[in-house]
Amino acid sequence: MSQAIVVVGSINADLMIQVERHPLPGETLHGGGGEILPGGKGANQAAAAALLGGDVHMVGAVGDDPNAQAATAILREAGVNLDHMRVQPGPTGLAVVVVDERGENNIIVIGGANESVTASTVEAVAEVVSTAAVVVLQGEIPRSGIERAAELGTGRLVVNLAPVIDVDHSVVLKADPLVVNEHEAALVLQLLGRTAETAVGVNSGAEKAMVEELLRAGVASVVLTMGAEGALVGEGAMVTGLASPKVNAVDTTGAGDAFVGALAMKLAQGESVLDAAGFAARVGAYACTSSGAQPSYPTLDDELPKVE
Ligand code: RIB
Repeated sequence: MSQAIVVVGSINADLMIQVERHPLPGETLHGGGGEILPGGKGANQAAAAALLGGDVHMVGAVGDDPNAQAATAILREAGVNLDHMRVQPGPTGLAVVVVDERGENNIIVIGGANESVTASTVEAVAEVVSTAAVVVLQGEIPRSGIERAAELGTGRLVVNLAPVIDVDHSVVLKADPLVVNEHEAALVLQLLGRTAETAVGVNSGAEKAMVEELLRAGVASVVLTMGAEGALVGEGAMVTGLASPKVNAVDTTGAGDAFVGALAMKLAQGESVLDAAGFAARVGAYACTSSGAQPSYPTLDDELPKVE
């Protein structure tokens, strides 16, 4: 049986900038860094799954500029199949990632070649998408590309709608699981026309209430990630809390993508959403312990932190 994971999504070059603290509006600060590292939510998820041994295929696009090489370096090293990655005239997607001393980041993304991953681009690789065991989607390519990939997928669909963009409800309702953080969960509920105000930021049960509401809206399963606080996994009418290992966070950039990639890899191997999410939380925690997105991801040789 196929265990192929097809990631349809963004590929970026991440310009990394370190600052003591984030600037105020209108303020100029001195920073450090300046490296260009591979990133993009789609590519990060593909790299994370492949570094952990997954059979991963990337559907996406880079530009014909020098950043394309930097953006795909780890995908190549990790053995991700890039036969379905287009090279598009113009710039590769670029993210300006500013990380402060506490490891908190601000990111501005310029779509570049990712904007060409529309329905017709996905249609051109229909066979690889439709035969995958797991298709993984995020919100950094055009809506039409996401919707077409969701329609074509016959395997399990992992939807990490980050950032939340306006997509057809069928994409969210076909997700199994939908992976979102608390802010994204509230926005997805709005997208589905459900009331989120009972759930958003009001009390400590807010996240659980959002998962329950997403399940009631018809989403088959939900993983709500809460960073160092762990995750909630909702399936059927059940919501289970998962702890995250405690680590010294240096840079959280791409940790959520490491989580999604690891989750997809375990789902492709036939694990349950709950078990896969437990593993993914350990991979996400590992990814916080060094700088950048993909360069901080574990391989099969690395020891993952454990929940004490
Ligand atoms: O999730 C982190 C990623 O978001 C970065 O790698 C950046 O490219 C943006 O897409």
